[in-house]
Amino acid sequence: MNELEEIELQKEYIKKVKELNKNKILKYNILTMGCQLNENDSEKICGMLEEMGYIATDNIEEASLAIFNTCCVRENAEEKLFGKIGELKNIRKNNNLIIAIGGCMMQEKHIIEKIKKSFPYVDIIFGTHTLHKLPENLYKVIESKQKVKDIIDINGKVYENLPIKRESKIIGSVTIMYGCNNFCSYCIVPYVRGRERSRKPDDIINEVKELAKNGYKEIVLLGQNVNSYLRSEMEEIRAGKRTDEKGLYSKIDSFAKLLREINKIEGIERIRFISPHPKDFTDDVIDAIKDSNKVSKLIHLPLQSGSTKMLRAMNRKYTKEEYLNLVQKMKEKIPEVKFSTDIIVGFAGETEEDFEDTLDVVRKVGFEQVYMFIYSIRKGTPGEKMENQIPEEIKHKRFDKLKHIVEDIMAENNKAYIGTNQKVLVEGLSKNNEEFLSGRTDSNKIVVFKGNKSLIGKLVNIKIVSEHMWYLKGEI
Ligand code: 5AD
Ligand code: SF4
Repeated sequence: MNELEEIELQKEYIKKVKELNKNKILKYNILTMGCQLNENDSEKICGMLEEMGYIATDNIEEASLAIFNTCCVRENAEEKLFGKIGELKNIRKNNNLIIAIGGCMMQEKHIIEKIKKSFPYVDIIFGTHTLHKLPENLYKVIESKQKVKDIIDINGKVYENLPIKRESKIIGSVTIMYGCNNFCSYCIVPYVRGRERSRKPDDIINEVKELAKNGYKEIVLLGQNVNSYLRSEMEEIRAGKRTDEKGLYSKIDSFAKLLREINKIEGIERIRFISPHPKDFTDDVIDAIKDSNKVSKLIHLPLQSGSTKMLRAMNRKYTKEEYLNLVQKMKEKIPEVKFSTDIIVGFAGETEEDFEDTLDVVRKVGFEQVYMFIYSIRKGTPGEKMENQIPEEIKHKRFDKLKHIVEDIMAENNKAYIGTNQKVLVEGLSKNNEEFLSGRTDSNKIVVFKGNKSLIGKLVNIKIVSEHMWYLKGEI
């Protein structure tokens, strides 16, 4: 069966489950852990469930189906998941709750063992490559009360046309590629998400056009390593291992060209992408960002560490100087460019001196946002086997120090916004005060201001009048 036929088959199962559930009001409760790729996967899970007749609920007590979409990038998610499944044991007895667990953590053998042993009442276990088969798996459970484990280890394929129920009506996430080939030595992702594979340009362009037609204003392009979009495919074509008879890649054959094409789509006002890898940030991408007026000038550029020695240990394939040079080059080419980043503190072998190198880069770049992580040893990665693991206490100390420095830089950056005019995409009412609207600048700063509800979903010019740690206040 090819991918198209597989999805057609699942659509049949959607109808079958709907038929089985006829005349019943069935609700589902979903918990999503982890990154925006997982959130986008969950939107597809919800899309399938709603076509099967399920309705979303936040109250697990009234749900007939509990779904977990898991993450395994750091250890704390495991504890959280096991706690939650444990809580369901009694609820399950009361109302025949079906429990389905999927996502990255399910691609890890030791997790499956643990679930089988400690939580034998879980009904469906599915992995990252079998998400699209949820209708079939659910059908089996409802129809014949069997337990289903549907995990495959091969590199998944790319499935199109799954139903989707989006969280936002203004900002739409679009996954452009799956998997990762980089094997950074701390990271579990390549083991649970398989090798890189890109969606076809036309499928992406059509999805963005559809979003624009439905009033979406911002697009977030997602992938583990977006600037190697189509790289494996083009390498295969060049090596003669794949042909492009249909001319699928004749117009768009790289991330830079994809950006330029999406920039042309009418109705879309802002384009973001996460995450690129510094080693793959080629000049054509920098030029595309510069030339494309809708592409946000806030670039998320994961640093991980500022020490060349640590970067080598992490298998990141760039040095401190190369990272700083890249930042410098972008600042010269794109005057308004700003940066956000990811940093891991306390990877194996990190000395005070290495950590100081990280602080040095943080100060030199002046990041708008820093997502900070304490290194969490992942089973099966090279990092697990490294000697010189850093004691938790030291990791936490360094983390706190980094956090203070980042907050000082943020406060400094925030001050520079006062008195400036910012284009703010209005997302909705402010959570803390309904008299205010809330939106984001191109640089992803939250701005609250007084205004009419009719501005929701629009780009509005706002003058910034004051700054607060996590948001700016402005006036129309
Ligand atoms: N421990 C801590 N942080 C990690 N990340 C990835 N793997 C780990 C790990 N084992 C962080 C990286 C990555 C972000 C998504 O999560 O900084 O960029
Ligand atoms: Fe993990 Fe590195 Fe791939 Fe990012 S690029 S998903 S950190 S292996």
